[in-house]
Amino acid sequence: MGRILIRNGTVVSPSGSWAADVLVDGEIVVGLFEPSAVEALGITADRTIDAAARYVIPGGVDVHTHMQLPMGPTFSSDTFETGTIAAAWGGVTTIVDFASQQVGERVMDGLEARHGEAAGNCAIDYAFHQTIGGVDDESLLAIRQLVEREGVSSIKLFMAYPGAYYSDDGQILRAMQVAGELGVMTMMHAENGIAIDVLRAQAIAKGDTDPIFHALTRPPELEGEATHRAVQLAKVAGDAPLYIVHLSAADALEEVARARHRGQNVFAETCPQYLWLSLEEHLAQPGFEGAKWVCSTPLRSSHDHHQRDLWTGLRNDDLAVVSTDHCPFCMKDQKELGLGDFTAIPNGIGGVEHRMELMFQGVVNGEITLERWVETCCTTPARLFGMHPQKGEILPGADADIVIWDPNATTTIGINDKHHMNMDHSAFEGFVVDGRVETVMSRGKILIENDQFVGTVGHGQFLKRGLSAELR
Ligand code: URP
Ligand code: ZN
Ligand code: ZN
Repeated sequence: MGRILIRNGTVVSPSGSWAADVLVDGEIVVGLFEPSAVEALGITADRTIDAAARYVIPGGVDVHTHMQLPMGPTFSSDTFETGTIAAAWGGVTTIVDFASQQVGERVMDGLEARHGEAAGNCAIDYAFHQTIGGVDDESLLAIRQLVEREGVSSIKLFMAYPGAYYSDDGQILRAMQVAGELGVMTMMHAENGIAIDVLRAQAIAKGDTDPIFHALTRPPELEGEATHRAVQLAKVAGDAPLYIVHLSAADALEEVARARHRGQNVFAETCPQYLWLSLEEHLAQPGFEGAKWVCSTPLRSSHDHHQRDLWTGLRNDDLAVVSTDHCPFCMKDQKELGLGDFTAIPNGIGGVEHRMELMFQGVVNGEITLERWVETCCTTPARLFGMHPQKGEILPGADADIVIWDPNATTTIGINDKHHMNMDHSAFEGFVVDGRVETVMSRGKILIENDQFVGTVGHGQFLKRGLSAELR
């Protein structure tokens, strides 16, 4: 690996952007230098990369992915291998995926099984959150072990999906009490699953079976209501840290904003699909096409002000993170399971490859600053989930996870253009965005350069995470 010097670029961090040369030694960033200092100090390297007219940014940190996730009779179509290679193509050098436990299962068995699936198969570094779908005395006891011994410092609960991962309010409260005591972050899928199930059954009984009914039976009010309940339960649990996942509705954002204004430890993420795609333009496409965009929470109507509010939330930090909720399914044999019955369509959109690109377009459009792009996609996810300063920022001593970004190039997203995820369509087909991932480095090893993946499967290591650095 040796010493690599990245010269003439503009380094971007949440606190600013400046001309600096970055010296990497082995797996670590060892220095940032004012450019003329490199000669003055006689700094040498085995390899020099010219980053003139480029941004030099931390590798992306995507804290919400689902590789090879079992869903009904199928699995999300990216394995840890294909999904982490696609992530690298998108300038992502760390993912946090999920180990899972359901009623009657042992938490540690689920974690061990997930380790077995990921170990040796990842091209980039990875960590796990722990989904707890069966809250009981035993699973609650396991939370201490997760954080103290396993490096898993966040749990995920579901207010949706009754009969699968769903937890009732009493279970949520108990889990939050235990997690809060330990400083563990509770991530919440906040939708009122009980009410949604009534609407779904009514729609099917009426013959409303097209993909669009997926969204119409998951209205924004039921995301707002569940978010409100989650926030209140976290408060009653002693201000237990709460992180709302895949927030899509203005109704939910209002609840998060109110809680944050009160000083509660409440955080939220949104995903590029909620910022760029809509119910009318995508989910409502004729025939079965809309199945490509069936995900939960669902795409929202462009006739309301969800997208405008989400961008505002990103600017004012009510939304702290952009993740992808990467959960890809092919149309053939997978989404098609729901032909004639939208309730059987596997839920999920693939996007791990495109988050950095789509969010950079937000910079170009003037929605967020360059620094906020890095903050929401790299630094804050690392800080919130106990990985900073090792990940998420280019700092002396940090892992050398670095992306060289060409702001003057463009990227065309699409199945016959830039597309490396293991799926037969792209949710962002035909998007032409400014900017391009040029070079990607993970712990000093080049993964992407000259339009080639030159990394290795197995390079990615499991990251033991600490507690969140964002708690108030
Ligand atoms: O549609 C989605 N989001 N699928 C993945 C599972 C989840 O709810 O996050
Ligand atoms: Zn979810
Ligand atoms: Zn998810």
